[in-house]
Amino acid sequence: MTEFTAEDSDPSFEWGVSTAAYQTEGAFQEDGKGLSIWDEFANRSGKTYNNQNGNQACDFYHRYPEDLSIIQQLDIPNFRFSIAWSRVLPQGIGTPNQAGIDFYDRLIDGCLERDIEPWVTLYHWDLPLALHQRGGWTNRDIVSWFVEYVELTVGRFKDRVANWMVLNEPMVFTGAGYFLGIHAPGKRGMKNFSAAVHHAALCQAEGGRVIRDLHSTAQVGTTFSCALVESASPSRQDVRAAQRVDALLNRLFIEPSLGRGYPIDQFPALSRLQKYMKPNDEDLLKFDFDFIGLQCYTREVIRYSWSMPYIFARQVSPQKREVPTTLMGWEVYADSIYHVLRNFHRRYHLKNIIITENGAAFSDSVREGKIDDYDRQQYLSSHIQACLRAKQEGVPLHGYFAWTLTDNFEWAEGYRPTFGLVHINFQTQKRIIKQSGRWYAKLIQHHLVPPNSRNMDI
Ligand code: GAL
Repeated sequence: MTEFTAEDSDPSFEWGVSTAAYQTEGAFQEDGKGLSIWDEFANRSGKTYNNQNGNQACDFYHRYPEDLSIIQQLDIPNFRFSIAWSRVLPQGIGTPNQAGIDFYDRLIDGCLERDIEPWVTLYHWDLPLALHQRGGWTNRDIVSWFVEYVELTVGRFKDRVANWMVLNEPMVFTGAGYFLGIHAPGKRGMKNFSAAVHHAALCQAEGGRVIRDLHSTAQVGTTFSCALVESASPSRQDVRAAQRVDALLNRLFIEPSLGRGYPIDQFPALSRLQKYMKPNDEDLLKFDFDFIGLQCYTREVIRYSWSMPYIFARQVSPQKREVPTTLMGWEVYADSIYHVLRNFHRRYHLKNIIITENGAAFSDSVREGKIDDYDRQQYLSSHIQACLRAKQEGVPLHGYFAWTLTDNFEWAEGYRPTFGLVHINFQTQKRIIKQSGRWYAKLIQHHLVPPNSRNMDI
């Protein structure tokens, strides 16, 4: 096990754990909740691993007191979760569902009673189905629908929630849900994708403005998926291909918020977005976030490929490269998060970065009621070391949230990849804290940092 030291500890660093509503709550039709695109998609045949769905998931809707008590027992001071839009507004707009609002009231109060700081994501991929039926993210009206939802939730909870995130990984929900069709709502093609991207980018900024107007002392953030993108060779074609992928994965949503527009220079096919732009949209896309949440799990090695439309690039798979992987098939490469932090800092001079997700799926076995998940612990340890090294070198990194509290519904991959610090037996819903969870608790309690984050050149 990596040795950690209490020297150089930073007591203001925000340690936390992240979850999302659809992956954990279950109770998909209870107490007046409306359906979301994920309820519909995961209950369609052939869309997820073994046709699994989040209908029950971790039953967090009923068992949240137990899960909050686990967070308290582990002394994790910050808890990031999302609000299910269709639980508070079953049709997406219109009449609110009091029982849904009451649930989040209890959840937020439950955090505060246990001295846990709530960090709320407004949109973690579960669009109300009723809004999808009106075009969802491809319809520009979503900006006003989203504003209505944000006004309701922020207005209701702002007295107790200081930290807000507008969107979770817009690149993933637009790419997987509207271009590739492998996530809800299962749409494909450049047209759907371009419209969804532009409207999500508008909502990202507009959501930020609504929060700030309603709650002037709030910390307003949003989150981005990101990865170190490297070219498979120094050839011009491969380097260019890697630049296009980098534009898509790392630049597409942050650059418009900073007033730089979409990264069309790096990836000319993105000029299709302009079709959806109206005069003044460049201004509407801007918002000065108080913090940027980065979520990084792996790196991508890219080569040119003539057969991939628009992007003309392909991943050289970790299997082909014969590197270690997690159960998701993602390469384990801790330096990725270090370089991502350095690159975002160098490119954008952000004032405050928080790693809002990082973690790993490995197969776990329960032996005598215990789970010794050394591989997950190693993964977390090496990635936290990499983060703290970047911080030591001057990156304004102020927090780290592990993904995730309990094993949960991993979208199209179902329940097979387990990312939790806490194991769940999905037959009985019994929870067992894994070794990695106890290790993470110890790291936080003692403000420990890895030794090699010290004495590095700035
Ligand atoms: C992120 C996503 C999470 C979780 C995680 C692990 O992209 O925000 O919901 O699924 O990946 O795959």
